[in-house]
Amino acid sequence: PEPVVYQAEDAAITSGVVESNHAGFTGSGFVNYDNAVGSAVEWTVNATTAGPATVELRYANGTTANRAMDVSVNGTVVSPGLAFAGTGAWTTWQTKTVTVNLVAGSNKIKAVATTANGGPNMDKLTT
Ligand code: GCU
Ligand code: CA
Ligand code: CA
Repeated sequence: PEPVVYQAEDAAITSGVVESNHAGFTGSGFVNYDNAVGSAVEWTVNATTAGPATVELRYANGTTANRAMDVSVNGTVVSPGLAFAGTGAWTTWQTKTVTVNLVAGSNKIKAVATTANGGPNMDKLTT
């Protein structure tokens, strides 16, 4: 199927703000996670059929510290402590790919910061 883009700035945000002060994002901006454990972005993602799907998260991390996050699908953590390593600059965006099992129809995919550094800056999720 064709890629579908879900912007982070359009998703449900817990302890974070939408910003646009670092170039290279797509859509209207990105989510700046609060630098705290538990800050999160949750996307509602549609799947035409049930089964494994490749999900790409586009982010920037201008520090040298990993901004690890737990990735969950429909309430179950499927990728604990997924690494979001430094990208070299807040304007340098990279993707992280994770394969997840989706149900047909609506799915909740959530990326929750697990350290006091919070998450990276998050641009979008693509299925
Ligand atoms: C800087 C940067 C933010 C980023 C933050 C962080 O303030 O401008 O975009 O989110 O660092 O360390 O998380
Ligand atoms: Ca931040
Ligand atoms: Ca975006």
